[in-house]
Amino acid sequence: MPNIVKKAVFPAAGLGTRFLPATKASPKEMLPIVDKPLIQYAVEEAENCGIKEFIMITGKSKRAIEDHFDSAWELEENLKSKGKQAMLEEIRKLSRHQFAYIRQGAPLGLGHAILCSKAFVNNEPFAVILSDDIIDPEDNLLGEMLKIYNEHGATVLALQRVPQEEVHRYGIIAGKEVKKNIFRITDMVEKPKQSSAPSDIAVIGRYILTPDIFNFLEKTLPGKGGEIQLTDALNALLQKKPVYGYLFEGTRYDAGDKLGYLKATVEFALKTPTVRDEFKKYLLSTVASIINKEQ
Ligand code: G1P
Repeated sequence: MPNIVKKAVFPAAGLGTRFLPATKASPKEMLPIVDKPLIQYAVEEAENCGIKEFIMITGKSKRAIEDHFDSAWELEENLKSKGKQAMLEEIRKLSRHQFAYIRQGAPLGLGHAILCSKAFVNNEPFAVILSDDIIDPEDNLLGEMLKIYNEHGATVLALQRVPQEEVHRYGIIAGKEVKKNIFRITDMVEKPKQSSAPSDIAVIGRYILTPDIFNFLEKTLPGKGGEIQLTDALNALLQKKPVYGYLFEGTRYDAGDKLGYLKATVEFALKTPTVRDEFKKYLLSTVASIINKEQ
């Protein structure tokens, strides 16, 4: 069956308070891991799955995202005149697809951000990618979710087991495993207390949604934190239609958190050919000196 998910929505209107002061005037989505901003990893992940239309939900101080995915005549001419062909190609690739930008206007939550994309999504299934959650490209999480969507024609959420003490940071599901690592979801709670969490299985930042989610989002009242929660709309949807979850066992970095961001930086640097060997030597000597000091 052909992949009929052609659009991806990227909520990017958040204030990025966990990275202040870096995010005071520039978007957290533009924080780099080695040499690419977070949002570029997210776009490339969708692109690798055949998605060609990108809808960014932005807000104040987010202009750098638009510039990043725009053509840059002066820079391109400069690279051309210096014979930097490989970099020129890389820069040109960034502006080859269709991007739409929608301003969220007010910080009313993830559900509201998705609702802002309604007119552009235009009655088609679509992917949602939260660029804070960095997925190792080798794990092809979105590709696996699209396979499940193509088989069932229903909503698919990415899931991951998290330590009990972290359930309060996520949407947590209850569900029945219908096939290895595929769950039919029966309940969802946004950021529950450890004592009332229905499981230790969290929703992580990848969703394949069907356009009927908009009807539910329109009726969703403010929930956790006074925000319109996607989790609440999905919980209403699953009372009427099947919602599936794919339990991801690969690697995810929570780059919205300082420690997760640092881990992603180290791991990606160790996979970047131009710096890998020197960086590994540096890490090994740093670790050795830490051990020496601690002895
Ligand atoms: C959002 C969702 C939450 C989900 C999480 C994944 O929360 O509301 O259900 O588990 O993304 O990263 P946020 O991290 O935006 O607070």
